[in-house]
Amino acid sequence: MTSTCLMNCHFIGSIYKASKTYLTTCIRRCSRLSTNGNPSMITIQGQTFQPDEMTTLTPNIIEKVGCNLHNQQNHPLCLIKQCITNFFYKQFTRLGNPLFSVYDNISPIVTVSANFDSVLTPPDHVSRRKGDNFYINKDYMLRAHTSAHQSELIKSGLDAFLVIGDVYRRDHIDASHYPVFHQMEGVQLYSNFQLFGEKSNKTSLFEDGERTVEKQQFHTMIAAKSLEHQLKTTLEGCIQELFGSGLEIKWVDAEFPFTHPSWELEIKFQGEWLEVLGCGIMEQEIISSAINGQKIGYAFGLGLERLAMILFDIPHIKLFWTEDERFLNQFKAKDICSIKFQPYSKYPPLLMDISYWCPPNYEANDFHDLVRNIGGDLVEAVELIDEFVHPKTNVISRCNRITYRSMDRTLTKEEASQIHWKIAAAAEHLLKVDIRKK
Ligand code: PHE
Repeated sequence: MTSTCLMNCHFIGSIYKASKTYLTTCIRRCSRLSTNGNPSMITIQGQTFQPDEMTTLTPNIIEKVGCNLHNQQNHPLCLIKQCITNFFYKQFTRLGNPLFSVYDNISPIVTVSANFDSVLTPPDHVSRRKGDNFYINKDYMLRAHTSAHQSELIKSGLDAFLVIGDVYRRDHIDASHYPVFHQMEGVQLYSNFQLFGEKSNKTSLFEDGERTVEKQQFHTMIAAKSLEHQLKTTLEGCIQELFGSGLEIKWVDAEFPFTHPSWELEIKFQGEWLEVLGCGIMEQEIISSAINGQKIGYAFGLGLERLAMILFDIPHIKLFWTEDERFLNQFKAKDICSIKFQPYSKYPPLLMDISYWCPPNYEANDFHDLVRNIGGDLVEAVELIDEFVHPKTNVISRCNRITYRSMDRTLTKEEASQIHWKIAAAAEHLLKVDIRKK
């Protein structure tokens, strides 16, 4: 994390609500501030901590832990996760099997050392500031980036993995900033043979050289340049998979304590350059302190909210946390590339019912068309709430509930009633229904 970019203008976050089913799952799984009978203790996801002078964690943030939006089926963050994961599965295989292992359920509660020391962040680095992080106490925190897991996963023997998770940073809230957001980390390690194939008997990954802007001290220039090429083409391919070709992108030099050289990728979106990922050649010290083998590697971190906002035209980060069906239902399409978010109103709805006896050969869709023709954009939904057959006459009775709502103002009851009355009159006249007056 640099002090300027990914740390402060971080990748995006949100506010919390959800669809009915989604809300219940979320409430069940998200954490509550619990003092476990002892008001001086903090309990998160069953783990209890002693707060101290470093504590910056607040109850409303604790509630987000465990929500795992990136694992909720049909959630836009989950769709982005699946799309990128599939790209890596397809792109890199070993004997027909995916090379990358995927971790999307690692707890965001990490040691301060995992978040910072394990990725070589100096003790006085700005990214450690109390004002920028959610410290549980001086030893534990909510991870500020998924890079916190790089070292432990390499130590466990993996050489290609993706980590998807919620990350936490103290920041202001606006359309693209929220204290909780989601990242996907990727790490891939290469041996000489994996990088150069047949040519590897003539190449070497390591030398005792000099650290320059282009490479690290112990890397050969050819290894550094090949890996850079591999990293950049992979990420460009991934972005192209999401957005198609024809997108304007640019690479910008960056700085992270854990990679050198480092870059960020920016995408032109609505006339502005937006940074969507940070990446670089992994500092050799991270790899050599984790494994014995002779490998070099690259790492990258993608901001999922930002990618989803660009891909689906989502105007505000808080929408990712909404419980509103009108949001979540929009992401149920099969082809995610066809999804474009349609904004909906923040003004209150007015619900009005209409009951009628149907003529023979009545077509429900004729009624829907008629309602739309008369009500226009002020009609948000038409639902069938009751239907029965008269036991003696065999005539069908239907009751529809019409939701009226304006995108830009609060509708008055009089206005909605007038439309409703017109609809009733037209249905009687054109569809020959018999309106049931109560
Ligand atoms: N961890 C960095 C961030 O959150 C992103 C990153 C990951 C950069 C891996 C380089 C390599 O800002």
